[in-house]
Amino acid sequence: MELKGKLADAINDQITLEIQAAVVYRQLAIEMEVQDLPGISGWFLAQSAEELVHAQKFTDHMTDRNAAPKIGTVTAPNINISTVLEAFEASLAHEQKVSDSIRNLYRLAQQEGDIDSIPLLNWFVQEQLEEEASVGEIIGRVKLIGADGNGLLRLDAELGSRQEGGE
Ligand SMILES: [Fe+2]
Ligand SMILES: [Fe+2]
Repeated sequence: MELKGKLADAINDQITLEIQAAVVYRQLAIEMEVQDLPGISGWFLAQSAEELVHAQKFTDHMTDRNAAPKIGTVTAPNINISTVLEAFEASLAHEQKVSDSIRNLYRLAQQEGDIDSIPLLNWFVQEQLEEEASVGEIIGRVKLIGADGNGLLRLDAELGSRQEGGE
């Protein structure tokens, strides 16, 4: 069924938000590389790539339904962090914003009776739940590590190797 109106506009905005998330993660990757933490940097880069996959999923959904999405304004990431903990906290804050946006899309799809978008939105609800859980778990571990440099290097190695394994 053709996608148009309010829901099409909202999904279009979601495409921009996912691309914005990719840019935020890319900046966080740079911040971690600057702090000589290549594993954590790689983890953020992989997250960045995943956000572009998310943007593509919404783009495909729109074009499959004869809509023509246009990428909106992507702004400078405005990341101001100095510690690993702050980097992951910034990541969690952004994921929570994205989760809220997905819930709003879900509510709108229900209001509009748009059955065709529900499976895709279900996938995203689950995905956001997992994203928030995994970032939350890392935050907990970074807090446990505290000022222990060895612990931080172990986490860096672990997050780096997880990406190579391709999750
Ligand atoms: Fe995403
Ligand atoms: Fe995400």
